[in-house]
Amino acid sequence: MRSTKLAPSILSADFARLAEAARSVETAGADWLHLDVMDGHFVPNLTFGPKTVGDLRKSTRLPLDVHLMIERPGDWVDRYADAGAEWLVIHVESTSDPAAVLRAIRARGVHPGITLRPGTALEAIDPYLELCDLVLVMSVEPGFGGQPFIPGSERRVAEVAKRLGARGLRVELEVDGGVKPEHAGLLAAAGATVLVAGSGVYLDPDGVHAAVAKYRRALGG
Ligand code: DX5
Ligand code: ZN
Repeated sequence: MRSTKLAPSILSADFARLAEAARSVETAGADWLHLDVMDGHFVPNLTFGPKTVGDLRKSTRLPLDVHLMIERPGDWVDRYADAGAEWLVIHVESTSDPAAVLRAIRARGVHPGITLRPGTALEAIDPYLELCDLVLVMSVEPGFGGQPFIPGSERRVAEVAKRLGARGLRVELEVDGGVKPEHAGLLAAAGATVLVAGSGVYLDPDGVHAAVAKYRRALGG
C-alpha cells in the first residue's frame, strides 16, 4: 500500500476542460482530486461552487477533496455533501464555530478536515483535532495557484504530526501549496500522508502523466 497519496488540484487546469483534467490525473494514477473553492471574500480570488463539484463527481471516480476557502462554510455543507464531496476541509479562521461545522460535515457522512493559513498559530486548530479525519497544512497563503512553497513548512507538518501522535489520532495529514516533486520526500518524512499539487501537475511542460510519475518517483514508488 502506498503511504503518501497525491491529490492534484485542478486550480491550474483549463477551467473550460475540467472533466478532461480530472480524467487525465485519474488515468495517470493520482489518488484524490483536490478542488479549491474560493468565494472572493475569504480569499481575494473566485473559482467555482457546488454545481461544478457535482458535475466533476460524474466525470471521475477519484475521491473529491474539497478545500473551502469561503466565509460562512457552515451554510454550504449540505450543498457540497449533496454534490458528492468525500472530504470537506474548512479554514479555522473562516467561522466563529468550527466545531459545529465539522460536526455538521460528519453528520452528512462526509470526512471533516480543518486547515489554517500559514501565519495562524497551530494552537488555533488544537481544540478541533478530535473532530477531524484530516488536517491540512497550507504551505502558501491561500488564494492562488503557482506560488512558491514557503520554506520550512515541513517543520509545521512535523509539528502537527507530533500533536496528532500525542493524542493518538491517526488522521490524514495533507500539505497544500507550491508542492513540487523536490519537496515530496521531505514532506513525507515529516509525516504528510497527502500531497496536493496544482501547478506542479497541470503546468508541467512534460504533461500531466509525466508530472504524476515525477511525484511518484520522488515518493519512492
Ligand atoms: C491555494 C490552493 C492550493 C494551490 C495548489 O489557495 O489551496 O490548492 O492552488 O496549487 P499549487 O500546487 O500550484 O500551489
Ligand atoms: Zn487547496
